[in-house]
Amino acid sequence: MNEMPKNKTNSDADQNQVVRQVPTMANVHDEFAEAFRESNKLPTWVYVGRPAMERLLAPFFARGAGTKFLDLGSASGRIETDLLLPHGVAARDITGVEISPRQVEMAKARIPGANFILGDITNVALPSDTFDVAFSHMVFEHLDDEQFLAVCKNTYVALKPGGTFAFVMTHPDRMVDIDGNLIKEYGPFTTMAPWGVELRNWRRSISQTINTIKTVGFEVELTEEIKFPEPTRDLDPKIYATQMHNYMIFKKYPAIRLSIKAIKPEV
Ligand SMILES: C[S@@+](CC[C@H](N)C(=O)[O-])C[C@H]1O[C@@H](n2cnc3c(N)ncnc32)[C@H](O)[C@@H]1O
Repeated sequence: MNEMPKNKTNSDADQNQVVRQVPTMANVHDEFAEAFRESNKLPTWVYVGRPAMERLLAPFFARGAGTKFLDLGSASGRIETDLLLPHGVAARDITGVEISPRQVEMAKARIPGANFILGDITNVALPSDTFDVAFSHMVFEHLDDEQFLAVCKNTYVALKPGGTFAFVMTHPDRMVDIDGNLIKEYGPFTTMAPWGVELRNWRRSISQTINTIKTVGFEVELTEEIKFPEPTRDLDPKIYATQMHNYMIFKKYPAIRLSIKAIKPEV
């Protein structure tokens, strides 16, 4: 599991040091499940994440019933409620894997009939040669290199021959720590999620990400570095008013998201 750094011990406390509960990935997302539910109003999702995922998944929406979707790090089902269901994907064709029990509970309640699995995407047991597309949004930046390789291997096995692996994650040149400092070194750092929680992230280069995918056997078909666009007003007015300063921050980066599409070759 994707552990955060270990807590300090009682003997540390005896020495009057500050003891801070540093949570695991699962209980971070448990505790903030309700806040994350509102994340479909965030400008980064509305202007960048949702359109990027829509571009990647559109060919599969067109294939119709029986096309099997696998969501890696599905949280409370934002992609399902915002994209898959409105595009006519049947709940029975959706499988999601998520490490936070509370998020899985919420996803099951929101999308009855879909298969939400409580598990770790690095080692969850999935049926082989089953899914037409495996996708992920804003999850792989939480994984270290070994975990990312494990997810790629696991996903490769679960996809049908000819199946697609498609994901969007934070661009490595837009990763900032909790104080807003740009991260320039590769490896782990702590950042702040927009819904107000500290999270561990891992910076790796675009070529390293691509090489890992290729190592497993995927053929990379598309790499897109996505810039934050000119904002429009089709956003919740309250969020638009309170998040305007974020637009300015995002707009200074040449790209804020990395999108990759890769294919498992036909045998
Ligand atoms: C930023 S949220 C994105 C959720 C969702 N993909 C979306 O865009 O709406 C990241 C999610 O990945 C989950 N996650 C992180 N590491 C995971 C792992 N190893 N296995 C399964 N889920 C994981 C977290 O619990 C969290 O719900």
